Amino acid sequence: MRNTIMGVACCLVMPLAAQPDASMKILPDKGENVINKEIYGQFAEHLGTCIYGGLWVGEDSSIPNVQGYRSDVFQALKDLKVPVLRWPGGCFADEYHWRDGIGPREQRPRMVNNNWGGTVEDNSFGTHEFLNLCELLGCEPYVSGNVGSGTVEEMAKWVEYITSEQGSPMAKLRKENGREKPWKVKYWGVGNESWGCGGSMRPEYYADLYRRYATYCRNYNGNVLFKIASGASDYDYNWTEVLMQNVGHRMDGLSLHYYTVTGWEGSKGSATKFSDDDYYWTMGKCLEIEDVINKHIAIMDKYDPKKQIGLMVDEWGTWWDEEPGTISGHLYQQNTLRDAFVASLSLDVFNRHTDRIKMANIAQVANVLQSMILTKEDKMVLTPTYYVFKMYNVHQDAVYLPVDLKCSQKDVRDNRVVPMVSTTVSRNKDGVVHISLSNVDLKEEQEVLIDLNGIKAKTVTGEILTSKNIADYNSFENPNVVALKEFKGAKLTKEGLKVVLPAKSIVTLELK
Ligand code: AHR
Repeated sequence: MRNTIMGVACCLVMPLAAQPDASMKILPDKGENVINKEIYGQFAEHLGTCIYGGLWVGEDSSIPNVQGYRSDVFQALKDLKVPVLRWPGGCFADEYHWRDGIGPREQRPRMVNNNWGGTVEDNSFGTHEFLNLCELLGCEPYVSGNVGSGTVEEMAKWVEYITSEQGSPMAKLRKENGREKPWKVKYWGVGNESWGCGGSMRPEYYADLYRRYATYCRNYNGNVLFKIASGASDYDYNWTEVLMQNVGHRMDGLSLHYYTVTGWEGSKGSATKFSDDDYYWTMGKCLEIEDVINKHIAIMDKYDPKKQIGLMVDEWGTWWDEEPGTISGHLYQQNTLRDAFVASLSLDVFNRHTDRIKMANIAQVANVLQSMILTKEDKMVLTPTYYVFKMYNVHQDAVYLPVDLKCSQKDVRDNRVVPMVSTTVSRNKDGVVHISLSNVDLKEEQEVLIDLNGIKAKTVTGEILTSKNIADYNSFENPNVVALKEFKGAKLTKEGLKVVLPAKSIVTLELK
């Protein structure tokens, strides 16, 4: 089963029982970069029941709510410490006209959500509802503007409506709609997937359009926009090259979309029924994002060696077949322990590249693709992915500590190789060190010996996410099948920190 030991020479004189399965040396002196908290970003799209039913039920709903936002979901997101929320899409963004979503709700026009099942959108969740939610959650809003079917004027006026203080016609309109003070909005997307649902453009054409639209997105009253250009999908390195060459420092960020998906044609596979082989394939595909990121970064480095332009992985996660019996086009899928591993491994990759990756937004926050939360009428469940984000939020804004990790690895389908252990180590502003470890192996526990290399610790505590089967998930009937538990498998010893990770488990340790 295990076929290679990375970088570890076998020592014949050492008794077998004394050898750990993996070893790791933390390099605290090499900790130079802070893990951008925005890497733990979320994405809310007008798609299926992400917004309506997921986040928003309206003030008159019988479902308990705070100003129209579901109370249970709101509290769960507050606990998650969401740093940034992207909205309104996705593909939806390039058909969205913001003026339809302001003013008295009963007077707002309806539209057909052409991208997502042809559902009729009543625009009751618009600019005010989104920005007020971000304020209540204490997170940064990330607004995705319409380039595909919108105008320069429309986008310019949206920025003015949201951020200008007084005296402007748009500030007056905002006040008439009940919001006196402008909101602060930092992150502004100029189009989404402009190579596809956002307008089917060539990169050269989009680069010019970006320059034109971005020119009129002004900074009002001390609000400084961080402008994000619509970037490549997966392996489209030419898109990044053309954008870097033709837009360069006119953008603050360039996006990248990468989904852990079997392919775009035909079945994508069931979210809940899969073989061990499928699971390992998924890990390989998920980890391939590191190679993809490295190649996009190499292009960015050529034009921007000081790393001033952020790589924004503003859509990522698993994409399976829609759950049988759900509305076609709504992309509702269940979420198993396998998805949790995609989350932990991907976050480990993003954390490693925090010097260039300024944000990442998993798709989507509720009821669509790799969600944190699933809702059905008044019921809510937290997914295994939610728990990974919960365990990992200790790394937000902490100093990333590089490691030297040696572990076994496995050859998987499609010529990919998957290391059996993945990790993130960080030190927060109070000096507390957190170590996240994933044991990818489905069958075998892993003993990991960690050389703390001078890090002083008197106590170690931890949490673990695991379950009997890798395909286990939380349902409305059984909402606590996969949940966080206290972890007692770590010990401080003379040789270092010894951690015994059960098969298919994800752990975060706190050293004090
Ligand atoms: O996340 C679902 C869709 O995937 C988004 O709307 C789009 O940007 C991407 O193709």
